[in-house]
Amino acid sequence: MLIGVGLGPGDPSLLTLLAVDVLKSAIKVFVPGRLAFDLVKPYADPEILTFPMTHDVERLQKAWRQHVEEIARYAVDGPTAFGVIGDPNIFSTFSHLAKMMRIAKPHVQITTVPGVSAVTACFSRLNEQVGASFVISDGSAVESKLALKATKPRDMANTFREEGFTDLVLLERGFTKKEKVYTKNFPLKGEYFSILYGKRT
Ligand SMILES: C[S@@+](CC[C@H](N)C(=O)[O-])C[C@H]1O[C@@H](n2cnc3c(N)ncnc32)[C@H](O)[C@@H]1O
Repeated sequence: MLIGVGLGPGDPSLLTLLAVDVLKSAIKVFVPGRLAFDLVKPYADPEILTFPMTHDVERLQKAWRQHVEEIARYAVDGPTAFGVIGDPNIFSTFSHLAKMMRIAKPHVQITTVPGVSAVTACFSRLNEQVGASFVISDGSAVESKLALKATKPRDMANTFREEGFTDLVLLERGFTKKEKVYTKNFPLKGEYFSILYGKRT
């Protein structure tokens, strides 16, 4: 199994307990750079995967393919971690790796361990409070939307669809014993601890 592990924004004390457990028990840990290496080092013996400094797509693809092959050699045998800064699902190297792995090695199971993202950590550092909708962008087109407090999931889902976000998931009480995930038949009334996530298809 391949596990993308979020290592937090850079402070070693911002790794989660689960991240530490996974790093300790993995048969092999890969990282994409020095900062991630230093965060993992107290718990495992990480290997840095390097990429050529080039815009040459062919050369980059070749490097990715080689890395996928190497990671898969371990991931077919046991838990193999790939540690990344922040969260492994937010603007992350891991997402690209997982996509390539799914194509090249569909039998390798893939999962992720969330990390404290720079997206949330910066508000603590900057002493900023967010109480209204805000935008996260890396300059690319908006392809997804996430709504907190999805207490009226069915109505919200219809609004999302009208806006073009038609691939929808509702997460209620995520990472708790009462977790529920809906992809259809969204309830009329929902939980306060809920998130509706929509993607353009
Ligand atoms: C490829 S994205 C990775 C984001 C990461 N997966 C996360 O969830 O934080 C890299 C960008 O994250 C931001 N970033 C990551 N760590 C940061 C930190 N410690 N301080 C400020 N920005 C950071 C920067 O904008 C950087 O260009």
